[in-house]
Amino acid sequence: MAINVLIPFYSRGGSTEALANAAAEGARAAGAEVRLRRARDIVSAEVMASVPGWAEGAARMNAAYAAPTVEDIDWADAIMFGTPTRYGNVSAELKAYIDSLGGAWFQGKFNGKAGSAFCATMGTHGGAESTVISLFNVMSHLGLIIVPTGYADPIMFKAGTPYGAHAAVDGQYVKAVPADDLEVARYQGRRVAQVAGALKTLRG
Ligand SMILES: Cc1cc2nc3c(=O)[nH]c(=O)nc-3n(C[C@H](O)[C@H](O)[C@H](O)COP(=O)(O)O)c2cc1C
Repeated sequence: MAINVLIPFYSRGGSTEALANAAAEGARAAGAEVRLRRARDIVSAEVMASVPGWAEGAARMNAAYAAPTVEDIDWADAIMFGTPTRYGNVSAELKAYIDSLGGAWFQGKFNGKAGSAFCATMGTHGGAESTVISLFNVMSHLGLIIVPTGYADPIMFKAGTPYGAHAAVDGQYVKAVPADDLEVARYQGRRVAQVAGALKTLRG
């Protein structure tokens, strides 16, 4: 049985992108097909030019990843949302994609599928948990079955949050995401793919 994992994310500096790719590796290791999708920029060109690397990063990622679509929701058995934190909350760019999905929600396209979330922040205590939990609110409305990271893998005693993977890296300076944080995202991807497979069997 094919398991399809959609990873819609937003990133400017590459930290959330690195977590998204690690989550994709984990999901593929569990046998899933993966679509990585970058939500598009909505702030002005002036804002994107205000921090070195943002505009270049956006151009590079837009060439590498298609924008997420409503059709991706039809395809997906699981959705893993990835976002940089914005004042302890989801980025407007990822939220704009989510807010384009009202029709799919009304048609019940999320019901019984797996949902999960991860994020990048600048500060260790910069709002990672509140950001992931803000996406739990969204996932509850959508009807997704929320898959948290918990402590079901040894890596969770070294990194991450029990809600979802997290990297405290200031992406605008393109620092590397620590290996343990990437390992949490890999584990999260594996776990989500496994749960999505079980849920797909239940949905019939
Ligand atoms: C408008 C704005 C608000 C932000 N708010 C927070 C915040 O509340 N806490 C924090 O730790 N970092 C905050 N950041 C920093 C980013 O979340 C952080 O640099 C993140 O790693 C960027 O991810 P990316 O490399 O995927 O773009 C903010 C950045 C911007 C531009």
